[in-house]
Amino acid sequence: MPAPAVLFSEEQIQSRVADLGRAIAHDYAGRSPVLVTMLKGAVVFLADLFRAIDLPVRVDFMSISSYGSDSEASGGVVRILKDLDQDIGREDVIVVEDIIDTGLTISYLLATLRARQPASLEVCALLDKTVRRILPVEIKYRGFECPDRFVVGYGLDHGERYRNLPLIVAVDDQTALTDDPDLLAPLLAARDAEVEKTGGRTPS
Ligand code: IMP
Ligand code: MG
Repeated sequence: MPAPAVLFSEEQIQSRVADLGRAIAHDYAGRSPVLVTMLKGAVVFLADLFRAIDLPVRVDFMSISSYGSDSEASGGVVRILKDLDQDIGREDVIVVEDIIDTGLTISYLLATLRARQPASLEVCALLDKTVRRILPVEIKYRGFECPDRFVVGYGLDHGERYRNLPLIVAVDDQTALTDDPDLLAPLLAARDAEVEKTGGRTPS
């Protein structure tokens, strides 16, 4: 397999997430929005995003699955595996997603949340694969336009692996990765090596 292409570096992601945090803090000044986060892919994004929002935000989590789909494709038929803990009626809600692809999952989710009558409902997505869109989605806070390639890292997985990569890479040969799930493991190690070399971060 050719070396995976780095689409978004750690620095690019961190800088963009800080921008999004500032924009949300500005727009919701004086309020306390609830960040409804989709498990599991969006948790890495959430962790950085909500620390970049200078407001008393609250977080809640939801887990949904699409029938008969793998991690990439989804048919738009969605089942709630874990619902929110809190009532979002009259709350300002921001849905935090890792990536909007066809838009089917988020559309179902937004309809479900809207029925609970929040005061407001917006979407914050790190990646937007607009070329794959089937249902239109209004994304108020958008990190990056994402090319039509399968991506992993920064919360996004392939068979549950590589969510802990701090950068986002494109995997053009998914079959090779399925055959050898450890193919990208050197990337995780290379990251460590680089950190050690530069000494830029304090080990815990
Ligand atoms: P949608 O209903 O097609 O918009 O599905 C969005 C979901 O598909 C995301 O929340 C991801 O879980 C998954 N997904 C879409 N594209 C990718 C990708 O390139 N890598 C990893 N997961 C993806
Ligand atoms: Mg997801």
